[in-house]
Amino acid sequence: MAPIQVKKICCIGAGYVGGPTCAVIALKCPHIQVTIVDLNQQRIDAWNSDELPIYEPGLDEVVKAARGKNLFFSTDVDKGIEEADLIFVSVNTPTKKSGIGAGFAADLKFLQLATRRIAEVAKSSKIVVEKSTVPCRTADAMRTILEANSKPGCSFDILSNPEFLAEGTAIEDLFAPDRVLIGSLQTQQGKDACEALTQVYANWVPRERILTVGLWSSELSKLAANAMLAQRISSVNALSAICEATGANIDEVAYAVGKDTRMGSKFLKASVGFGGSCFQKDILNLVYLSESLHLPEVAKYWRAVVEMNEYQKSRFANKVVDTLFNTITGKKIAILGWAFKKDTGDTRESPAITLANHFLNEKARINIYDPQVSKDQIWLDLTDYGDIPAEPIKPHVTISQSVEEACHNAEAIVVCTEWDEFKKLDWQKIYDNCPRPAFVFDGRLILDRKALTNIGFKVTTIGTGDRL
Ligand SMILES: NC(=O)c1ccc[n+]([C@@H]2O[C@H](COP(=O)([O-])OP(=O)(O)OC[C@H]3O[C@@H](n4cnc5c(N)ncnc54)[C@H](O)[C@@H]3O)[C@@H](O)[C@H]2O)c1
Repeated sequence: MAPIQVKKICCIGAGYVGGPTCAVIALKCPHIQVTIVDLNQQRIDAWNSDELPIYEPGLDEVVKAARGKNLFFSTDVDKGIEEADLIFVSVNTPTKKSGIGAGFAADLKFLQLATRRIAEVAKSSKIVVEKSTVPCRTADAMRTILEANSKPGCSFDILSNPEFLAEGTAIEDLFAPDRVLIGSLQTQQGKDACEALTQVYANWVPRERILTVGLWSSELSKLAANAMLAQRISSVNALSAICEATGANIDEVAYAVGKDTRMGSKFLKASVGFGGSCFQKDILNLVYLSESLHLPEVAKYWRAVVEMNEYQKSRFANKVVDTLFNTITGKKIAILGWAFKKDTGDTRESPAITLANHFLNEKARINIYDPQVSKDQIWLDLTDYGDIPAEPIKPHVTISQSVEEACHNAEAIVVCTEWDEFKKLDWQKIYDNCPRPAFVFDGRLILDRKALTNIGFKVTTIGTGDRL
């Protein structure tokens, strides 16, 4: 049987990955009908409105160009499945909160529910593509579920096609990916399914960038890529602590190290720590996988990457308290940036949340500003989605509409996200409205330390010690 020509795609999961990825597929493949489905009505309504549910540069234009033509958003999951000949499963795979593997293993319940739904609803053969990040050999479980529940005449091919986009540059990444990775069974049928998906991407991605490998290699490559990216950040953050103690400068060290072509300069920026929904989750997943495979040394190695990240966040929070003469009780602290990085409104695992909790524990008053994160989202994060009562912290938290408002009368200003607008602030004006001494803590190494010091601020920057 020759590879099928994909005419209709369904994507289950209209999140940070499913939405942008399939919107770009629709834009680049006008001959393919793309329907993105989700159980979350609010999210689908937002995708169908002028206020998209996620902020991502360039996304609005892509959605507007394709929506209503060959791109549709719907809560009718069953119809989407029935009509499609290729289905992306792009649901969330968070870290398990309870049971075996709690705190480490991936919770695959959403993925399995979506897979079951495909088996129950499908009346014709489908290519099912695992887009979510999953532990190695999850495709096997998906195949077993599909085969055990399928109707006569329906067959399913499983592909792994992990997503490598980075939030903040998702559209750029999807337009010109470094690579597209497709894993399949190495049977003729598996290879035909792989070719069908390859032909979809080949509408805009050069063939040499579409890598085809075995299923398990594909699944593991995604975990490996995230683990190695996070490991670079933890490595540079570990070095930043040495810099602070010795007077070396982490930006200079990272620049010198990154000039080595074997290494490259990307992902060597020291910071208050990495966040986002993926790095920590995927490393913990790798740790769990290693332990399950009786490889404790391997598990320990990767766990250290997460531990270093936790250390960096608490080290920075402690530094704020130490610098403010060992107490921040009752003091006003401005937190600039709540998203886990610039150009996204995503706050999952954002270091700002850890810092805010630390400051609240120390009984400080915090004033938060972020250009893209809503007030509601900040409250969800501060209350751990309702697990922590809001009432006791309410008097200590203010969410501001501008930097100036957040910093007015602040005894310390803490930069948590590297938003470009923070580089261009009128720092003299901010200084004029702060009590003395006025402290700035640059958790992202984006500010002009010398200029701020000249204004009169006492500036603490990660990885630079006291030397200017
Ligand atoms: N966010 C990223 O930058 C990124 C990058 C690469 C890979 N990934 C991986 O992609 C996957 C999705 O991540 P995300 O950030 O898009 O998650 P997300 O939480 O933003 O979106 C997942 C969506 O799936 C929906 N969903 C869950 N179960 C469903 C079901 N049975 N039927 C229909 N809809 C269902 C949820 O309602 C939600 O809207 C995860 O495995 C993640 O690790 C994420």
